[in-house]
Amino acid sequence: MNTSAEWRTTKRIAVIPGDGIGLEVIPEAVRILQAAIAKTERKADFVNFDWGAERFLRDGTTLPAGAVEMFRSDFDAILFGAVGDPRVPSNRHAADILLGLRAKLDLYVNARPVELLDASLTPLRDRSEDDIRFVIFRENTEGLYSGLGGQFRRGDPQEIAIQEDVNTRRGVERIIRYAFAYARSRQLGKVLMSDKSNALTFGHELWQRVFAEVRREYPEIEARHLYIDTLVAELVRDPSQFRVIVTCNLFGDIASDLAAQLAGGLGIAPSGNIHPGKVSLFEPVHGSAPNIAGKGIANPVGAVLASAMLCDHLDWGDLGDLLRDAVRAAVRARQTTRDLGGTRSTREVSDWLLEYVTKTRLAT
Ligand code: NAI
Ligand code: MG
Repeated sequence: MNTSAEWRTTKRIAVIPGDGIGLEVIPEAVRILQAAIAKTERKADFVNFDWGAERFLRDGTTLPAGAVEMFRSDFDAILFGAVGDPRVPSNRHAADILLGLRAKLDLYVNARPVELLDASLTPLRDRSEDDIRFVIFRENTEGLYSGLGGQFRRGDPQEIAIQEDVNTRRGVERIIRYAFAYARSRQLGKVLMSDKSNALTFGHELWQRVFAEVRREYPEIEARHLYIDTLVAELVRDPSQFRVIVTCNLFGDIASDLAAQLAGGLGIAPSGNIHPGKVSLFEPVHGSAPNIAGKGIANPVGAVLASAMLCDHLDWGDLGDLLRDAVRAAVRARQTTRDLGGTRSTREVSDWLLEYVTKTRLAT
C-alpha cells in the first residue's frame, strides 16, 4: 500500500487542541473546516489527540514514542491549538510536544501571513486593506533556537552564559529558496531578506552570500535587503512596501509578532510550520491564554485562518479562500469577540462563520 500524501485520496488530518483556549477554538475551527470540505467531493479524516497538560498531569505523556513516525507516514497535516498550563510551571510538556514536532518533522518554514482584513483593525493611521498584505518566512529549525550553548560558573559573579547562533549552509539556503519560490508561484514580484550582518559578521554574512546566489535564479523578482532594526521601523512606517520577508529564527519570531499587531493582533494571526510536500503543522499564533480560558470568549479566527493555511497546504486553495472570505465578512459585519471590540462569544462567531461557509458558493 502506498501511503504517501500524493496517493491518499482521503486526506488525514491530525488535531491537537492542546491546552486552555486551544481546547475551545480548535473544535470550532474543525467544525467550520468540515463544512467547507463537505461542499466538495473531497474527503478528510480527522483524528483527535489529547496531548496537553491534562494528559501530562494524569500519566506523564508528552509526545508518545512513535508519534513522529506516525505523523510522517499516516497524516497529511496537523491542526494544532496551543500548549501551556499554569499547573505545569516548567511547561515541559509544551516544549516536548510543540518544539518536538517542529524539530523532528523538520518543519523548516515558519510562515506568518499578515493581512489586514478590515481597515478598522490596524492601529496605524490612514491604512487600507491593500497596504498591509505580506508574509514573513522565519527559519524554524536553527539559529539562536538550536539549544546549543552552556553555562559556566552558574550562580557565580563571574558566571558565563553562552547561546550559540547556528547557521548552516543548507538551512539558510532552503528557507531563502522557499521565499523566492513562493514569490514566483504567486507572482508577488519581490522578496526582502533581513539579517544583522553588519554586527553578526560570521553567521549572517553567510545569509548575505546565500541570498546573493539564490536571487540569481529568480531574475524577475526584485531582491532587497534591510537590517532587522531598519525592517521593524519600516514595517511600522510603511508596511505597503513589503510582500515577502525572509529572516532567521529569532528575528522572525519578533518581527512577526509586531507584524501581527499591524493587522489586528494575536487573536486573529495564523501560522504554518511547513516542510514543503510533507506533513506540516498549522496553528494560531496565540498561546493557551489561561487568563480567558473557560470563559467562552476566545477569538476563534486565528484557528480558522490556520485551517485556511492547512487547506492551502493540501492544495485546497479554494477552501482556504472561502475560509478567509468568511472571516473578512464576519469582521465587516462586526461579528467579533471582545479582543476585536465586539461582543460575541467564541460560539457565536463560529456559528456565524459556519453559516457563511455553508451558504456561500465555492468560487470555481
Ligand atoms: P497568549 O497568546 O496565550 O495570551 C496573550 C494575551 O492575548 C492574553 O491576554 C490573552 O487573553 C490574549 N489572547 C490570546 N489569544 C487570544 C484569542 N484567541 N482571543 C482573545 N484573546 C486572546 O500568550 P501568553 O499569555 O504569553 O502565554 C500563555 C501560555 O501559552 C503560556 O503557557 C505560554 O507558554 C503558552 N504559549 C503557547 C504557544 C503555542 O502553543 N504555540 C504560543 C505562545 C504561548
Ligand atoms: Mg512568538
